[in-house]
Amino acid sequence: MHIHVLKNTSELAQYVAQQMYQHILERSTTRIGFATGETPKETYNCLVNYVKHAPLNLNGVETFNLDEYIDLSPAHPNSYHYYMDQYVFSPLKLSYDQTHIPRGNTNNSTYEAEHYEHLIKEHGPIHLQVLGLGINGHIGFNEPGTEFSSRTRVVELAPSTRQANSKHFASNEKVPTHAITMGLGTIMESEKIFLLVQGADKTPALHELLHSSPTQNFPASILHSHPNVHIFTTESTMYKL
Ligand code: F6R
Repeated sequence: MHIHVLKNTSELAQYVAQQMYQHILERSTTRIGFATGETPKETYNCLVNYVKHAPLNLNGVETFNLDEYIDLSPAHPNSYHYYMDQYVFSPLKLSYDQTHIPRGNTNNSTYEAEHYEHLIKEHGPIHLQVLGLGINGHIGFNEPGTEFSSRTRVVELAPSTRQANSKHFASNEKVPTHAITMGLGTIMESEKIFLLVQGADKTPALHELLHSSPTQNFPASILHSHPNVHIFTTESTMYKL
């Protein structure tokens, strides 16, 4: 794992966005896996700005999101469909056909998860996967205890994940209890992984990741076994200034 410690959040966003821009620039077609959440928002804003100032041909870009809440419609402001449309798809003018997110509001989520896994296999591999880190070590919504070989499926969110994400909902109870997530095995098939970690609340998880050997109790530790992982963090997250 390569670790990049940037001065602050803004430099992290610019640096990672620049890497993503370069990744797209160098390829006529590429498949990019996107995470949602607080961490990558500024990076996505920077990427959009770079593309505005130095337009890129995005026709060969295809996107795959990591996860989606179950029971939220794509139009719900807390759905990951809505997030992606707001931060990435609309500003970059990506067409519907170029983007893929599991649907959280179907009447058969198990089928939807299997279908999404199949889609990734059929179109894959993902060339560049962006990840965030949960305070309990989750990546995607693969909570502690997840099998390293897991594939895309329906999962129950850990209480600490629902608590961490409750800031976006009217109350804790309104946070969905389940989601569809790419599995750890699915994520590990990506060619290159960018893990973004920033915020004082992430310091313990970052240190645990850096110092632990692979264990199911801390899902992100699986990344030690991947040949091409870059962790991007900030000085204050890394050194707890
Ligand atoms: C989001 C996702 C999650 C988040 C993680 C960190 O698509 O898969 O694993 O990346 O929960 O979330 P933030 O960035 O909000 O702290």
